[in-house]
Amino acid sequence: MAELLIDPKAVAPEISPNDEMYLGGESWYFPVGQSAIDCLDCALKAARKPISSVHRILDLPCGHGRVLRYLRAAFPQAEITACDLLRDGVDFCAKTFGAIPVYSQDEPSRIPIPPESFDLIWVGSLLTHLDQDRWRGFLTAFRSFLRPGGVLVFTSHGHGAYQRMLAGPDYFAITEQQKLLILDRYARQGFGYVQYPPLEGYYGLSLAKPTWVIDCIREFEDLKVALLSEKGWADFHDIYACVRDDSWHIQSPVVPRRLVFAARYRKQIASIRRRVRLRTRLRAAYHAIKAQCR
Ligand SMILES: C[S@@+](CC[C@H](N)C(=O)[O-])C[C@H]1O[C@@H](n2cnc3c(N)ncnc32)[C@H](O)[C@@H]1O
Repeated sequence: MAELLIDPKAVAPEISPNDEMYLGGESWYFPVGQSAIDCLDCALKAARKPISSVHRILDLPCGHGRVLRYLRAAFPQAEITACDLLRDGVDFCAKTFGAIPVYSQDEPSRIPIPPESFDLIWVGSLLTHLDQDRWRGFLTAFRSFLRPGGVLVFTSHGHGAYQRMLAGPDYFAITEQQKLLILDRYARQGFGYVQYPPLEGYYGLSLAKPTWVIDCIREFEDLKVALLSEKGWADFHDIYACVRDDSWHIQSPVVPRRLVFAARYRKQIASIRRRVRLRTRLRAAYHAIKAQCR
């Protein structure tokens, strides 16, 4: 399959003065964008989706285009939609990279995007900040935005983030107590979430084990997991890629009632059969002895 190659000169260098993702400087900012393209390349290959079949792309949340500028360079012919709550970011992506602007909503079910709109959806660092009910809400929305055969690629904080949190200083902008709580929940339940201070709204920090995430994806019967790469994005976030495959449903065959009954009462039936066999043998022995005595 073809490689997703980028001409570095085709990557727009303009940075919005309001881009919070740029606070770490360009030595982090641009490699993170490039790394997203490397992940998408692996994801499309794993999903066996040719690059030439990607015509419409959604970047949600687009922020101020840290990744979108690379999407533009990697898919020059594609129509790219930029969606975020940050209207300033959406406007910047529309003006600077020619993206179609969509202002998002807190509630994923209210995001104004029609079903079956996209061949590829990139979700960089959104679920990393949400609690479990919103994970489900967003996955439901993303699944509905995908065309059949479309690919959803999202990131999560997994074991890499867990280890970084265990080892490091208060890098994640949460309190020491919150840090202990989230680490404990992650270790014991596979998923942890704490709300960023000042503890209102729905935005915080989540840690999710791959087993928990895969179970979450499994709730959508037509999402086929194509790729899981721990620390795949910029050596930090885990990457998941799923394909919408309408034939992936679990289709139970029609099982004859006799078989269901037999499976349910297997032990009892076996015990009855043993007793019947024993009684038959005893009766045969009795008749044999009786015949000898005559
Ligand atoms: C950590 S930033 C990541 C931005 C971008 N993906 C990047 O990698 O530079 C998280 C983004 O999620 C956005 N966000 C939070 N809730 C959202 C929602 N309901 N719909 C769309 N975007 C949302 C925030 O506005 C913020 O821009």
